[in-house]
Amino acid sequence: MKPAIRVENVVKTFGVGEARSFALKGASFEARFGELLMIVGPSGCGKTTLLSVVCGTLNFDSGRIEVFDHDLSAMSTGEITRFRCKNIGFIFQQFNLIPTLTAVENASVPLLLNGHGTRGAEKTAAALLDQVGLGGKIHSYPNQLSGGQQQRVAITRALAHDPRLVLCDEPTSSLDAATGKKTLELLKERALEPDRCVIIVTHDSRIYHYADRIVEMEDGHVIGIHEDPKNFHHA
Ligand SMILES: Nc1ncnc2c1ncn2[C@@H]1O[C@H](COP(=O)(O)OP(=O)(O)OP(=O)(O)O)[C@@H](O)[C@H]1O
Ligand SMILES: [Mg+2]
Repeated sequence: MKPAIRVENVVKTFGVGEARSFALKGASFEARFGELLMIVGPSGCGKTTLLSVVCGTLNFDSGRIEVFDHDLSAMSTGEITRFRCKNIGFIFQQFNLIPTLTAVENASVPLLLNGHGTRGAEKTAAALLDQVGLGGKIHSYPNQLSGGQQQRVAITRALAHDPRLVLCDEPTSSLDAATGKKTLELLKERALEPDRCVIIVTHDSRIYHYADRIVEMEDGHVIGIHEDPKNFHHA
């Protein structure tokens, strides 16, 4: 079967001339339909950069990325934006919540962007917030929420429009063990659908066992793909 995501030899540099540095030095991996794939590796090795190029929010210098049969380098910025809006949910490492919107308004954004009415969108978002234990906080603004609560709003926003691909950058970094477990169970359930895929970047070895496979990165390269996450021990 064709993979859900195919990343081939992707190079990404930042800066020009003397200041040019390589964040990705020819990274390759595939993600399968119905799987929860984790990407692990030391700080600065290129994990966030890799998620951002797959998401289409960051251009890359060379290589090839296919997401659900769409070749990203053959698409215009507008086409990528529309494709992302419908098909991808992204949980950012820094949450990126909109400070002037409440929790339920933040979580409704992708539904509104996909043409849902405000009332329906907020009802769906409120139900999801309830699922992640934030039922009592739906009208709070981000600055009234703890880090872990903000992270759960960000997770809700990424899932609200039921995207086929969910990309998560350290989704459990601010969560205690019990809330992290609940979140992973929610993400795992999403990944199981045969037309779906979830990719999680993480440092958190407590959650490795939720992965179907683990992609190990180092210094801009993918250095290993581990088919047996239960026996994976990161240095
Ligand atoms: N906008 C940018 N401009 C210049 N360099 C950047 C930029 N974004 C990332 N880099 C560099 O690219 C490399 C990879 O960064 P990236 O954020 O992808 O790492 P990471 O693996 O996600 O690290 P962490 O685990 O700390 O989040 C780093 O050396 C970083 O300094
Ligand atoms: Mg990062």
